[in-house]
Amino acid sequence: MRSIINEKNLKNKKILLRLDLNVPLDKGKITDTTRIDKILPTLNFLIKEEAKIIILSHVGRPKGKIVKELSLKPICQELQNKLGKKIRLIDENIEEIKNKNFFNNFNEEIFILENIRFYSEEEQNDNKFAELLSNLGDMYVNDAFSCSHRAHASIFEIPKFLPSFSGLQLDLEVNALNKITSEIIRPITCIIGGSKISSKINVIKNLIPKFDNIIIVGGMANNFIEYFGNSVGKSIKEKNCNKIVEDIISLSKKEKCKLIYPEDVIVSKDLNGSPENKELNKILSDEMILDIGPKTIDKIAKIIDNSKTILWNGPAGYFENPNFAYGSIQIAKKIIENNKANKIFSVAGGGDTVSLLNNLNAVNELNFVSTAGGAFLEYLEGKDLPGINALN
Ligand code: 3PG
Ligand code: MG
Repeated sequence: MRSIINEKNLKNKKILLRLDLNVPLDKGKITDTTRIDKILPTLNFLIKEEAKIIILSHVGRPKGKIVKELSLKPICQELQNKLGKKIRLIDENIEEIKNKNFFNNFNEEIFILENIRFYSEEEQNDNKFAELLSNLGDMYVNDAFSCSHRAHASIFEIPKFLPSFSGLQLDLEVNALNKITSEIIRPITCIIGGSKISSKINVIKNLIPKFDNIIIVGGMANNFIEYFGNSVGKSIKEKNCNKIVEDIISLSKKEKCKLIYPEDVIVSKDLNGSPENKELNKILSDEMILDIGPKTIDKIAKIIDNSKTILWNGPAGYFENPNFAYGSIQIAKKIIENNKANKIFSVAGGGDTVSLLNNLNAVNELNFVSTAGGAFLEYLEGKDLPGINALN
């Protein structure tokens, strides 16, 4: 892997820069800018070297269609403010801009293409689409570690057409995670939550042999709660998961990895409703699980006390509403407390987890905080990430 930081003669070179600007949005407003802040050093480096920059990024999951709410417009605006530079958002169809020279106007240095996932070719890892994109630049830089577990056109396929480099944030994350995984101390506890169940449930099996405890909270926990014979009402859950859940349970027994899932929960009728503590067998059909309950919080705290390493990805509930943030906040506080007392080594990752830690003003209270969620877990699995492979 070659880092862009070591490249000379970047003046007037057109750089296709893949970033992960997938920040949380609430009615068009950015609620956490960490992922933007973290890539500023790469942009500032390229600006200093007088390179011309074309940014590629996605936000959300528009699934190959133009979804107005998932425009990069507010993100482009935020970037302009932070850099103090004009950035032009290109929302023309990529097919039609192929032969355009964006940089005819000498004052313009930075462009950003509209949400790359508006094109189904992106997630299909389409070779022709990648070639089309590659024609816009002279070089490619991946500074989106948090997307590098996706074999998508702008991550995996473009490097086949252009000299390709890693960005500064990607270097930092890979170096930190390499160090962490090689120096890790047992007992190791991994806490997995969040709402992206389908991405994560398959990762768990591969994590079981490596860790001593796996704590499952958030959306994925609902599949376990249901598996043990409880109704989960209107809660989010993944369909057809009984086989995977069964495999996870039997493998954890074999590998002597303790599997922990909620013993009690906080439910409500909807996302804006009021919270109510419930035993697992008391959940009604019109209720949804939105946080872990007090018994579960106590149990998790004890496990953290008996661990030497804590790896955390994904909140325990719908923390965007303060009524359902308590469980996630208690987990964060326990980790921070033990970290301050030098009892544990702690690493957290993922867009929502980082946002939660930011709300608590606590990003610097852990040993390392990664911008990556899914990519972070797959890295822990020991998997080669497609985006990293493509740079090698
Ligand atoms: C993330 O938020 O983890 C990355 O931006 C990747 O998003 P995805 O899970 O929708 O592929
Ligand atoms: Mg995310």
